[in-house]
Formats: sequence, C-alpha cells, structure tokens
Amino acid sequence: MHTTSFRNCLTFALLTCCTATLQSVQAARPSDIFAANQALGRGTNLGNYLEAPRDASWGITIEDKHLAAIKAAGFDSVRIPCRWSDYTSKNTPYQIEPKFLRRVDHLLATAHRAKLNVVLNIHHYEELNNNPRAHKDRFVAIWKQIAHRYRDHGKWLYFEICNEPQQDFNEYWNEYLVAGLSAIRASNPTRPCIVGPPHWNGIWALKKLRLPADENLIVTVHMYNPHEFTHQGASWVEDRIRRIANREWGSAEELESLHAEMAQAATWAREQNRPLYLGEFGAYQAAPMSSRLRWTREIVRTAEKHGMSWAYWEFGAGFGAFDLDQDRWRKPILDTLIQN
Ligand code: BGC
Repeated sequence: MHTTSFRNCLTFALLTCCTATLQSVQAARPSDIFAANQALGRGTNLGNYLEAPRDASWGITIEDKHLAAIKAAGFDSVRIPCRWSDYTSKNTPYQIEPKFLRRVDHLLATAHRAKLNVVLNIHHYEELNNNPRAHKDRFVAIWKQIAHRYRDHGKWLYFEICNEPQQDFNEYWNEYLVAGLSAIRASNPTRPCIVGPPHWNGIWALKKLRLPADENLIVTVHMYNPHEFTHQGASWVEDRIRRIANREWGSAEELESLHAEMAQAATWAREQNRPLYLGEFGAYQAAPMSSRLRWTREIVRTAEKHGMSWAYWEFGAGFGAFDLDQDRWRKPILDTLIQN
C-alpha cells in the first residue's frame, strides 16, 4: 500500500474510533446543558428589587449602569428574583400586568446588552407555598405567559421554575415542576431550565427531587449554613437567630461541615449526571466582616472546584457586594467573589 493511502486509512480508522468514543461520551452526558451551566459561571442575584411586594420598595433600584458594572467587575450572569404573583390577576385567565412585564423586559434587555446571561425565576409565590392546590393553574398560567413572551430570546436566558419550594408545597413540588416545565416547553422546547429540591432548595433535600427525562435541566441548590452565622441579626428570621451578634465562622469543624455539604451536592449531581448551579449563598451584613469573607471565599472555591456555577446573594442590599449609596463595589466582597 502506498504510504499516503496507508496514512489516510490510519487517519480514517482513528477518526472513526474517536467519533465513536465521542458519541458514547455525548450519549452519557448531555454536553450542551453542561456548557450552558458553565456559561452561567459567576453571577450575582439582583435581590430585593423585583422580589419586593407589589408597589413596595425594599430599598433597591437597579439602574442600567449597574448591569454594566456587574459585567465589568467580572461576572458572567445575573439571577433575577421576581414576584410575579403580586402582578397577576387572581382569577382566570390569570393575566400578568403589562406594566410589570415591561419592567422585566427592560431589565432583561439591559442585562443582555451588558452581555450577561440571565436567570429569571418565580420568587416569593407565598400563596403557592401555603395553599398549593388552589394555585396550580395560576402557577402554570404565569409560566405560559412568561415563556411565550420570551420565547425568541437567545440562549442567554434561563428559566428557573420556582425559588425555594417550602411548607405545604414541599409535597407537591415534584408534580408541579413537571407542570411548570411542560408550560415552558410548549413554546421553548430546549431552553435551559433550572429546578431545585423542595425544602428551600436545601442540599439535604436533593434526595427528594424527582427529575423528568428532560435533558435541558440544570439543578440548583442554596447554601446558607450555618444559619446562625449567615443570618445573624437579620430582621426577617426567627428570634433566636435575629438576636445573635458577633458570631464568627471558620473553625476546623465548621470548614469540614461546609465541605461535606457541598460534596454531598456534587456527589448527587455526578450520580444523576446533571449540572449544578449554586443559585444563592451569602452572609448578611450583621456578621463580622472577616468571617463573612472567609465563609464566602470557601463557598466560591469549593463550588468552582466541583464545577458548579454560582450566584451570590446579593448585589446591592443587606448582603450587598455593591454599595448603592456610595455607588461603588465593596472591594473586599467583590475580590472574594471574583478570585482570579
Ligand atoms: C429570599 C430573600 C432573602 C434571602 C436570604 C432569599 O431566597 O428570597 O428575601 O433575603 O433568601 O435570606
């Protein structure tokens, strides 16, 4: 055989072999959804803004320049917690108010212009947590409208079906997530969607999450442990934790339990072959700063070591990486988040 044709044969054999291997890897691992999760990369929550109750302010206004600042600081994505239920009619056809939709349109367009990927969720649907049976149709109707409205948006937009299912909703969540996902899939057949476990998206509750056979799912968890440390002095938590002050963090035991909890999530994800998004973590401003930074650094490092994308809780309020009054980043927090 002529050496050139021998070489061609060899190349052909190698290519066939490599393609076969690649195909089997791809079959085992829906690589696109892993890439989509990597594209979320490092993010921040735009907390306290569209998640505040109707016409109330939780002290935050997100302006266009903030999205540009988030991108310039090195973030890849933002998560937008959104209280749709306060802007949706109580009866069929459960219409979302156009004026509120226009606010969301604007935020999405601004984030996209800033080249940020965006996670849009349903947040604080309290009636659904308290009385799931009475709210299933409304929950589905909300998703139908959101999904239809944004169906032509590019791959930069991700839908998260529901933030932190809790209370009575825990028992219904596996059923409702399928209903919400079907409503989305009717107009967005392949858009990456994000779902987490019941019980406040706690890592321990991953074992209770039942995922439908949809390849374009990213799984999310939240991490605020230990609560006594991350939520000390916060006005919205139980008395016992609200009254705590000057609680430090960082003993060998605490480090070990943080690593164990994060590893538990990573192991679950590996076994299920799903990518993981740490959609919320943060320590409130009342906690001592040096411990806040230590805890935050450890979470970011560990999340990245396990290949998780993440979103810090949150941009400009009580956990804020950004000081809205001074119009500048809190450098120690920012540097802890964006480590290289
Ligand atoms: C809630 C916020 C709260 C944060 C930290 C989020 O899931 O929506 O209101 O500030 O958790 O507790």
